[in-house]
Amino acid sequence: MPDDVVEVLFTEDQIRTRVQDLAHRISEDYKDRRLVLVSILRGSVFFATDLARQIELPLSMDFLSISSYGEGSEGVVRITKDLEENIAGKDVLVIEDIIDTGFTLKYLLRTLGGRNPKSLEVCTLLDRRARRIIDLELKYVGFEIPDKFVIGYGLDYRQRYRNLPYIGVVKP
Ligand code: IMP
Ligand code: MG
Repeated sequence: MPDDVVEVLFTEDQIRTRVQDLAHRISEDYKDRRLVLVSILRGSVFFATDLARQIELPLSMDFLSISSYGEGSEGVVRITKDLEENIAGKDVLVIEDIIDTGFTLKYLLRTLGGRNPKSLEVCTLLDRRARRIIDLELKYVGFEIPDKFVIGYGLDYRQRYRNLPYIGVVKP
């Protein structure tokens, strides 16, 4: 474990089990529908690919990249890489790494909702409710976490730690 990781919140095994549970539920809920997984770059990539492998349905995957304008500009989000696929009439499931204040997701849902998908839901690996400002409905949540900055399994601190197989807390 790197020196500056002070705590492991979820082990590789715990994550695998939880991802399987979510994938089972999704496989039931999306039977006979046109499922599109929209993975938000870069944080959700590890989660999205593991989840997709466990979903026993035909599906497509697409990727969206956004950037937000730093502190004090909450809610100002810009698409830096858009979807390739037309989502009109399809059942879109947004895959996120973590929902914190909710500003990013609110923007995403508004933008994607405007493209007339048949349905639009959210699957997030982590939910940090203590810091939520925008109230949003999250259909699938992997784990609720305390008010600590987390890294690993896709999540970064200044672009580091994404490749750790577990989710941990770094020294502030
Ligand atoms: P929100 O708009 O405040 O909900 O911010 C969500 C985004 O901030 C996530 O998609 C992450 O990219 C990033 N983020 C928030 N908290 C953490 C964290 O603890 N570790 C790594 N990234 C985080
Ligand atoms: Mg993110």
